[in-house]
Amino acid sequence: MDLHSANSSYSEYVPRLEARKLSLAYDCTIILERLNLAIHADRITVLVGPNGCGKSTLLRGLARLMKPNHGQVYLDGRAIAKLPTKAVAKRLGILPQSPVAPEGLTVKDLVAQGRYPHQNWFQQWSIEDEQQVERALALTEMREFTHRPIDSLSGGQRQRAWIAMTLAQNTNTLLLDEPTTFLDLAHQIEILDLLQELNYQEGRTIVMVLHDLNQACRYADDLVAIKQGHIYNQGSPEAIMTEALLADVFGINCKIMADPVAGTPMCIPIGKTTKIKSEAAQDVG
Ligand SMILES: Nc1ncnc2c1ncn2[C@@H]1O[C@H](COP(=O)(O)OP(=O)(O)OP(=O)(O)O)[C@@H](O)[C@H]1O
Ligand SMILES: [Mg+2]
Repeated sequence: MDLHSANSSYSEYVPRLEARKLSLAYDCTIILERLNLAIHADRITVLVGPNGCGKSTLLRGLARLMKPNHGQVYLDGRAIAKLPTKAVAKRLGILPQSPVAPEGLTVKDLVAQGRYPHQNWFQQWSIEDEQQVERALALTEMREFTHRPIDSLSGGQRQRAWIAMTLAQNTNTLLLDEPTTFLDLAHQIEILDLLQELNYQEGRTIVMVLHDLNQACRYADDLVAIKQGHIYNQGSPEAIMTEALLADVFGINCKIMADPVAGTPMCIPIGKTTKIKSEAAQDVG
């Protein structure tokens, strides 16, 4: 057997999503320049980084919501720019950071929009569509709000309605930009646990932006730390979440300890006043 045929018997590894030399810009302002990133199938990838570093821009670029200035994004090895819109929407769902619903739209109407890629001119609404909408409403605990207008909901309820819409799309890859912002702690954990379940039990690939670094370390298989439009480091939370990273990327002085529940890295910020307070407590004592 010659070398060529020996190699061809191995199937080449293809990431679920891949950015190759991807540059994204708003007008003439380049935000990400020639960025390379592989998102692995069946894993949870969490993007972290300070405000304005380019997390949302990257997520939008991966979902084809922005046209690259340079480079390409590949979905399962195929250039996403060349795939039909519905084919992409059947495989990849995105929850943007600040989505806006048309005035008066009800929760059910919004969640039903997630079914759009699965419809066609000869079949407008199927039993499968109805079941997926019901499932998404149940998973996000939004059933009681089914007929409420989106603009009458609290920030957290609204956020869950949008997550339900993304789930109703029933894609094997989900990109979520700060899915837990606006949620109380109980609902944050519920949504993160739900995403982890979808990953473990149904093999869905999850990519999300989180600001809570301790939650990021708990839920991520792969952590991607972004600084000023570049990938500073990438790997398992245990491998890359260091005090040096927190100082370089976020400009904060932190201690890292093992999370007593999950064992994952836990970041304890050392604020400027922490020492003063503890000294003050000692003085009082
Ligand atoms: N629509 C836009 N037009 C022009 N500049 C933009 C636009 N959206 C974002 N930017 C700029 O691009 C840069 C990256 O923004 P991006 O929204 O990707 O940051 P981010 O990491 O998601 O921040 P945050 O944590 O605040 O959500 C910022 O400097 C921002 O001001
Ligand atoms: Mg953002």
